[in-house]
Amino acid sequence: MSKKGKGKSDPGADGFTDRELQDTHGSERKVREGLFLPFFLFLIACAWFAWGSISLFVDANGFSLNPERQLTEAEIEAQKIRAQEMQTEILFKNSCGACHQANGAGIPGSFPPLDGSDWLDNGQRVISLTLVGMSGPVEVMGQQYNSLMPKIAETYNLKDEDIVSVVNYVRRSWSNASKEYAEVTLEDVAAARKALEERPDPAAPWTAEDVLKQYPLGAAD
Ligand code: HEC
Repeated sequence: MSKKGKGKSDPGADGFTDRELQDTHGSERKVREGLFLPFFLFLIACAWFAWGSISLFVDANGFSLNPERQLTEAEIEAQKIRAQEMQTEILFKNSCGACHQANGAGIPGSFPPLDGSDWLDNGQRVISLTLVGMSGPVEVMGQQYNSLMPKIAETYNLKDEDIVSVVNYVRRSWSNASKEYAEVTLEDVAAARKALEERPDPAAPWTAEDVLKQYPLGAAD
């Protein structure tokens, strides 16, 4: 009995020649390869869509599906307050934060802290320091400093309203919040300016000694 050899073009038991099988598999692979890129792009699109939905859900950033809706008075007021708070924070970071740091912690040995400093217990003292600066040795929260704070109001062109905002920001931020200091006002800026005028050299920076004579620590503001 001669065995019928299973040559390349001989059909196998299943009735397919090898070439037919190869061709079929080859084209299947091509189809699979052809699908890979669209599928990958589809995955990216899904991820993108999910990310977009989540961000919209978490914070629509003022975007509304119903733009015709009028904001209520309370919402407008809340937005104004939020905007003012952000402005004051930026004002603080720009005019004080470079030295006293954005978190008010200062830099040991160079810039004294504002967070927790008892030098803040008198609002007019802080205003006065902001107006003419200070130099020479000073102890803040048990640490010694001997440096110079420039005339911040002049350097950064602060209006009296800005001085009020920034001093209030410092006195109500971080751990200072627990001390519940009263808000300073434009009248406090005027009073601080008047007190400066009474010094022999109104524009000279304060020394720690002189400013504490004018505004003693621990006295109410
Ligand atoms: C260029 C750096 C610099 C900037 C900006 C600056 N300060 Fe100061 N500040 C100092 C230094 C330095 C001292 C300590 C001066 C000394 O050694 O006599 C000081 C001291 C103080 C003190 C008294 C000590 C303390 O830590 O409580 C207060 C209050 C103060 N600064 C508030 C402010 C406020 C408010 C602003 C922004 C409106 C401001 N400073 C911006 C450098 C700066």
